[in-house]
Formats: sequence, structure tokens, C-alpha cells
Amino acid sequence: MTTTTAHESGSAPAHPSWRDRPAAQQPDWPDPRRLAEVTGELAGLPPLVFAGECDVLRERLAAVARGEAFVLQGGDCAETFAGATADAVRAKLQTLLQMAVVLTYGASVPIVKIGRLAGQFAKPRTRPTESRDGTELPVYRGDAINGVEFTAQARTPDPGRLLRAYHCSAVTLNLCRAFATGGYADLHQVHAWNQDFVSRSPAGQRYERLAREIDRALAFMRACGADPEELRAVELYSSHEALVLDYEQALTRCDSRTGLMYDTSAHFVWVGERTRDLDGAHVEFASGISNPIGVKIGPDAKPGDVLALIARLNPAGDPGRLTLITRMGAGRVRDTLPPLISAVIAEGIDVPWICDPMHGNTFEAPSGHKTRRLRDVVDETGGFFEVHRSLGTHPGGIHIEFTGDNVTECVGGSHEIAADDLYQRYETACDPRLNRSQALDLAFTVAEYYQG
Ligand code: PEP
Ligand code: CO
Repeated sequence: MTTTTAHESGSAPAHPSWRDRPAAQQPDWPDPRRLAEVTGELAGLPPLVFAGECDVLRERLAAVARGEAFVLQGGDCAETFAGATADAVRAKLQTLLQMAVVLTYGASVPIVKIGRLAGQFAKPRTRPTESRDGTELPVYRGDAINGVEFTAQARTPDPGRLLRAYHCSAVTLNLCRAFATGGYADLHQVHAWNQDFVSRSPAGQRYERLAREIDRALAFMRACGADPEELRAVELYSSHEALVLDYEQALTRCDSRTGLMYDTSAHFVWVGERTRDLDGAHVEFASGISNPIGVKIGPDAKPGDVLALIARLNPAGDPGRLTLITRMGAGRVRDTLPPLISAVIAEGIDVPWICDPMHGNTFEAPSGHKTRRLRDVVDETGGFFEVHRSLGTHPGGIHIEFTGDNVTECVGGSHEIAADDLYQRYETACDPRLNRSQALDLAFTVAEYYQG
């Protein structure tokens, strides 16, 4: 991560404007006094990221909008408190770094690396409750809100969890910063990231061949007397869905350099498909912060909806400010995406377009597991590239859910996982994630698509 000085100071307004709007997907906190205590405490805690870092990411995303860079955004669907360990975070970074190397080398384009981590602790849900064997309890909304176990106690929203979410985010971000700049992400370590189970998979072996080519290139450069600093560290950013507005607000601070408000819970936050109502609280909140932000766009979005969101969230037309993350589904992307892109180009607006090939492709396997086919994920990504190529726009990146572990949550891949295997290591707290070798399979394919 880049280092900039802390300039944050000042507190947010006592009654931010989003509080006058309907806020979807908020937990039903049983004890509002405790919530006020917690948000008061959070408001006094240090920022997790600095405004200057957010500004650098905004510049990187402007380069993506210009067609000069590509975004790799990924991590868990839902992080868990138990997952904030050095091993788990390292494994996720390994996946991100390996994918980034495949994309940088294969597509010859700078990769903007954004982790879906260090804050991704809250989930929008389709239904407010869950029933099992005749018992109905509040649905699990992420570790920041309640516990995943199916008991009345665990499922009762507890504001104290917001503080734990903050501390787990801080721990995770600290690990990321250390891994990114402390030598682990040095390109000379390109082989070291390909360890354990993944090195035995076909994707891992393909990666090994690529790593050997990189080694040779590095040796050649060294022999020529070039050993650039840029290879020793990576720039890595954090992101999550800005869902629980009391939490995001408590971390929103005034940047004393500029007088602008930044949500210091992450470098990049996005508004989800279920909360992007133009008149709702989430869009209002996002309009008031100066971070680079994203909005998820699903298959039912109309060109007018997208233009209205752009007008609300990026009135100045700053190309790095608002990223559109489309998640259409493999079967619909080729029909639903073109009218949206055409409408945006007709207005002369530049935005980074990113493909989330996960959330439109979830289905239930016969075993009852929520899953996704790697084939569909690849197909939606392919459709995204085709559509952008045919309209002359830049396919700006991918947004995916993965883990560093050898889980069996999505089916397919060069190291095939069948529907009957899903029970073996199904560990996600929410949506099914690609395992490391499936994530690498996808990276190789995306690199090919990018080259055209
Ligand atoms: C998510 O990214 O986990 C998510 C819930 O996505 P969407 O808002 O696109 O459904
Ligand atoms: Co998800």
C-alpha cells in the first residue's frame, strides 16, 4: 500500500443526510443505546485508511477508465472474525498475487489490486429470517452483525460486533500492508506463492511455467544492471460493501487537507445490487464521501437507472470516482450489458467497467449447497469482453469471490470439482468462492481474453 501522512481530523455532521432516507438491509438492533455507545467509540478510533491513499486509488481507477490498466478485485464473500489470522490472510493474498502475476504477464497491462477484505463483514440478504425444522430466527447478516450458528442468541444482532469488525479489519489490513511491502510480495518470490495443493493442480503447473519465464526475465534484467524498486512491493487496496451505514458513518472523517469527507473504513466501498435505490440511504451516503466507489449493476437495471446513478454519484464526471460493477449472469450478459454501455458512451462519460461473474451465476446443487459453475463464471467474463470489444469500450477488470484454501464450493476447473464433491470442504459463511486453483484457471483465461 502507498504511504501517506495522516491528515484526517474532525468529525462527521451530527445528522448526516442519509438518515432521512430509507435504509434497506439494516439489522434490527435490539438495543439502540448500545448501538449509540458503539458508534461513539468507533468514531473516536483511528482511521483504517488515509484519504491520500484513497486519492491514489482514484487515480489508478482513472487509468482503468482510460483503458490503461485492469482491476483485479477479489476476496471472500463474507469475511469472518475467525478468518482474521496470518495464515488465512496470507493464503488470500497468495491467490491475489498469483492471479495478478498471470494477468500482468499474460495481458501485459498494469493490474490495480483491490482486496475484498479487511472490512467485508456484513451481507445483504434476500429474506430477513431463516427457518429450520419449524424454528424461525433472524438470518445471518455477517459477523459484523450476528453469529452464523442457528441459535436465538447467536442470531440476535449485537452492536458489539461492529467493534470486533473494526479490530479484525485493522488486523487484516496490518497483515496486508506487511505482506505487500515487507518482502513477501517481491516479484522475486513468484515461485514461493505457488505452494501446497495448488502447485499440483494443472493451473498451478501452468503457473510454474510462467513463473520460470518471469525468473529468466528478472535474471536478464539484473544482468543488464536493472533491478527496479517497483518489483519489490505491490500496491494493494482494501474494499467492502458499504452496507451497515451506522458503521460506515462512524468511520467517516473530514480530511483536513481538503475539507472533504472520506469513509476511512476502506479505500474503496461499493453499493450493492439490493441497496442501490436512487432515493435510498446507501446512495445518499456514497454521494457524500470522496473515496473511489462502486455500484453493482444487475440484469434488471435500465439505461436510465445507470445514468441517474452516475449523475448522483459522479456529478463532476471524474473518471476514477465511480466504478460500475456489472453482474448479469452468463446467460444474460450479452443482451443486458450493451444497452447500458451504449447509454453511458452516448453521454460521453468515462467509467471503469468491471465484471462480477459470480453473483448472477449462483444456483442450488442437488445436495442443497449454494454453488456456481466455473464454466458460467468464465462464460460471463467472456461475454463481458465480447460486448466491450464490440462497442469499443475498455473491459476494465474483474470482481470475484475467492479464498486461498482448497475449498470445494464452486464446481468445475482444470482440477475438476464435481457437484458430488461439494460437501467435502464447503466452508463459506455466505456465497460459494473459487478455490485457489479455480481462481488461477480464471486468471489464465482472462489474460487470454484481454489479449483478444
Ligand atoms: C456481494 O458482492 O457479495 C453481493 C451481495 O453482491 P450483489 O450486491 O451484486 O448481489
Ligand atoms: Co457474495
